[in-house]
Amino acid sequence: MVSIKSEREIALMKEAGHYNYLTHEELKKHLKPGVTTEELDKVASDFAKKNGCILSCLGYEGFPKSICVSINDEVVHGIPGKRKIKNGDIVSIDFTLKYKGYESDSARTYIIGDVSDEVKNLVKYTEEALYVGIKEVKAGAKIGDIGNAIENFAHSHNLSVVEELVGHGIGTNMHEEPDVPNYGEKGKGYTLKEGMTICIEPMLNLGKRYVGMLDDGWTIVTEDGSYSAHFEHTVLVTKDGYEILTGE
Ligand code: MF3
Ligand code: CO
Ligand code: CO
Repeated sequence: MVSIKSEREIALMKEAGHYNYLTHEELKKHLKPGVTTEELDKVASDFAKKNGCILSCLGYEGFPKSICVSINDEVVHGIPGKRKIKNGDIVSIDFTLKYKGYESDSARTYIIGDVSDEVKNLVKYTEEALYVGIKEVKAGAKIGDIGNAIENFAHSHNLSVVEELVGHGIGTNMHEEPDVPNYGEKGKGYTLKEGMTICIEPMLNLGKRYVGMLDDGWTIVTEDGSYSAHFEHTVLVTKDGYEILTGE
């Protein structure tokens, strides 16, 4: 079921989104070569707790940590552990944060030190693809408009679009209807309504679009080993457009 949020719920979603943003900003300060991904996990969970928030990836369908950290050819759902971030890595950080019962979901990919121009472009265009998708959002637009815009933009920069994982509605649950794919046909799919909150989250690869899963049962990697980037915002649908809830 697609939920339409009341004024009161929208206010709470905005607060959750703000704490999500602040947690990303806190993590950014610690993102340097030598830091382990489980140290980042602790930074995020301590910071969230201090602000009265819960990181709801912990225990979600058995996920063992509070945030997802996915490096280089890892697309999403990387499990924090002993691995150290190093120069030349790209690091995607994705988490869902709950405040007073309402969820916010956002992801960013960071470049650590020296990477090739090709990898720089992957990260830059994946972030741009998120905004290309967001610009389609308004009451009356279709889910397919978002995916179509993202897909066309990605292909115009020779990047491929992961299809196995998609964006989603969000509210009191991390994942609600409808699905929000990063591909699709203009004018097709569910019609957006004022008061819906959705997550748009392009995952783009330098190589082919195909992905697999590591033996840990979570980490999604590109099949060809090429680098992958991921950006995500939680967005409110308004009468004339949108409001980004995890933007600041
Ligand atoms: N934040 C992710 C999303 O964008 C979901 C994380 S999966 C989990 O939908 F298991 F880590 F929770
Ligand atoms: Co997410
Ligand atoms: Co999401």
